[in-house]
Amino acid sequence: MNVSATPNEKNFDQETLLVTKTDTKGKITYANRAFIDIVGLKEEDLIGSPHNIVRHPDMPKIIFKYLWEYLQAGTEIHAYVKNICADGSYYWVMANITPSYFAGKVVGYHSTRRKPTQEALSIIIPLYKELLTAEKSGGMSASEKIMNELLQKKGVAYDEFILSF
Ligand SMILES: Cc1cc2nc3c(=O)[nH]c(=O)nc-3n(C[C@H](O)[C@H](O)[C@H](O)COP(=O)(O)O)c2cc1C
Repeated sequence: MNVSATPNEKNFDQETLLVTKTDTKGKITYANRAFIDIVGLKEEDLIGSPHNIVRHPDMPKIIFKYLWEYLQAGTEIHAYVKNICADGSYYWVMANITPSYFAGKVVGYHSTRRKPTQEALSIIIPLYKELLTAEKSGGMSASEKIMNELLQKKGVAYDEFILSF
C-alpha cells in the first residue's frame, strides 16, 4: 500500500470487532467487513496480501518481534497496534492474536481487534515513541533493551504487561 501517514485518525465504536485471519506466514486469508471498511482497500486487494500492508511507520519493530515469538511458540498474544488506512489516516487497536489449530498443527492465525481505552493509549503512545526513537538511533536491540528493562522493573512478561492496563 503506497500511502503516506497523515494526522487523521479514524474512529470506530466500542462494539466493533475488526477481524482478520492469516496463513502461517502472515498472509491475509480473511477480513471481516469492518476491517475492510476501515482500511479502505478492496477485499480482493487485502486477501492474499502480507499483513504488513496495514503497518504504520510509527509502529516499533520490537512489538512485531514479540508477536511472532509468541505465535511461533503456539501462544496467543495481545498488542496495541497503530494501523494505516489506504488514505493515509490511522486507527489504534488492541489486538488479540491467536494460533488456529487443525489436527494438532498450527494452520494460521486469527486477530480480533477492539477499540483501545484512552487510558491504555496514554501509556502506549509515549512508550512506542520512546521505542521508535531508540530503534532509529540504535536499531531493534536498543528498543528491545528498553522493553526488557521495563518488564524486568515490573516483574512481568510482555503479555502480562499489556493486559495490566
Ligand atoms: C493474524 C495476524 C494479524 C496481524 N495484524 C497486523 C496488523 O493489524 N497490523 C500490522 O501492522 N501487523 C499485523 N500483523 C503482523 C504483520 O504480519 C507484520 O509482522 C508486521 O506488520 C510487521 O511487518 P514487517 O515485519 O514487514 O515490518 C499481523 C500478523 C498476524 C499473524
